[in-house]
Amino acid sequence: MFQREKKDSFTRRTAHLKPEGAYHVLGRALKLEREGREIIHFEIGQPDFPTFANICQAGIEAIQTGKTRYTPPAGMVELREAIASDAGERRGIDIFPEEVVISPGGKPNLFFPALALIEEGDEVIYPNPGFPTYEAMIQVAGGIPVAVPLLEENDFSFDLDTFDHLINAKTKLIILNSPSNPTGGVLSRETLEHIAIQAQRYDCWVMSDEIYARIAYEGVTPLSIATLPGMKERTIIVDGFSKTYSMTGWRLGFGIMPAPLARQVELLLTHSIGATAHFTQYAGLEAIKGSQKAVDEMVAEFQRRRDVIVSGLNAIPGFVCRKPQGAFYAFPNIVGSGLSSAELADLLLEKASVAVLPGSAFGEYGEGYLRLSYANSIENIAEGLRRIKDVLSQL
Ligand SMILES: Cc1ncc(COP(=O)(O)O)c(C=O)c1O
Repeated sequence: MFQREKKDSFTRRTAHLKPEGAYHVLGRALKLEREGREIIHFEIGQPDFPTFANICQAGIEAIQTGKTRYTPPAGMVELREAIASDAGERRGIDIFPEEVVISPGGKPNLFFPALALIEEGDEVIYPNPGFPTYEAMIQVAGGIPVAVPLLEENDFSFDLDTFDHLINAKTKLIILNSPSNPTGGVLSRETLEHIAIQAQRYDCWVMSDEIYARIAYEGVTPLSIATLPGMKERTIIVDGFSKTYSMTGWRLGFGIMPAPLARQVELLLTHSIGATAHFTQYAGLEAIKGSQKAVDEMVAEFQRRRDVIVSGLNAIPGFVCRKPQGAFYAFPNIVGSGLSSAELADLLLEKASVAVLPGSAFGEYGEGYLRLSYANSIENIAEGLRRIKDVLSQL
C-alpha cells in the first residue's frame, strides 16, 4: 500500500509559517488572567476604542435590510468608488474604482498581490524589524526575503546604503511600511524619492503598506510613494479600516493597484475568500462618508499616550526610546537591561504581569528592542510603566 513519508510533513510553501508574536503573547497573557493575574496589555496591535457609533449603526441597519448576500469579489461598486475618491484625495493623486480591491482586512491585499507577482526565486526587499506577514507571504509565494534594516539612529527609516547594496536585477518587489509596525517610524520624502528612483532603475514593484497612514502626529502627513513621478503604475497601496476606524474585527481593508493586477487579485479572492462581508462593506461606506471627528479625537488621544509612554520609558534605567511619529507603538532600545528582548519580555510577563512583545518577533534586526502598543488607557500605561521600572530595579 502507498504510504506517505511522514504524516505531518507539510509543503515547502507552508512549513516555514510561524504564529504571529502578538497572538502568542496574548494567549499566554490571557491564560495568566484566567489564573487570577491582573495583566497590563501592551502586546495587542489594535485601537482600544469601540468602533465609532455611526459605523456600528450602519452595519446593524445593513443586516436588518438584508445586506447579507454575496457581493462581487473585489467589492461593491459604491464602496470601490468611495475608496477611490477618498484615498485619492487624501494622497493627492487620481485613483479609479477599477484600481481598488476590497478585502476582509488589509492582509489579503498583502498576500494576494505577492502571490500574483512573485515567481519562484525572485528577491523581495522588506523592512526588518517589520510586520511578520511580509516574510511569511514572500516565502509562500516562493520568493527570497531580503531584509533591509530599519535603523534607530535614522529614526527607524530604511537604511539606504544597505538597500542600494541589496537591490539588483533579481529584485521583483520592495515592501515599505510607513508609519511602521513595530517602530512607529515614518519614511521621509527624500528616502521615498531615493527608493522610487531605484525601483524604476531595476524595474521593481513597490508594495506600500499604509495601514497606519491616518495615525500620525504633530501634523506629519506620511507621504505615499505612489504619488512620486512614475510610481503609481508600479505601486500597490495597502490600506484599510482596521486601525483608522477601530474596526479590526469587522475585517475590511483594500488595495490600490494598476487595474490589470487588480483583476488578477480579484481572481485570487474569487477562488479563496469569495468576497468581503456585504454588511461590513456598508459599515465601511459610512466610515468614509460620515464625520471624521472620532478619528481625529482618537489620534489626538494616541498622541497624549505616546508622550506619556515615551517619557516614562526613557525614565527607566537601561531603556532608551525615540519618539515615534506614527502608529501606536513605542519601540524602546533595551540593550542596557543586559537581557535579550525575549528574556526581558518573558520576565515582564512573569514578574510584572505586563505583556509586551520582544523586538525579535519582528525579525533579526528587532533584537535589542521591545514593542509596546499604547492602545491602552493613560492609567494603565502609568501602572504598566511603574511595574516595569520596579522589576528592572531588582535586576
Ligand atoms: C503593518 C500592518 N499591515 C497590515 C496589517 C493588517 O491589518 P488588517 O488585516 O487587520 O486590516 C496590520 C495589522 O496589524 C499591520 O500592523
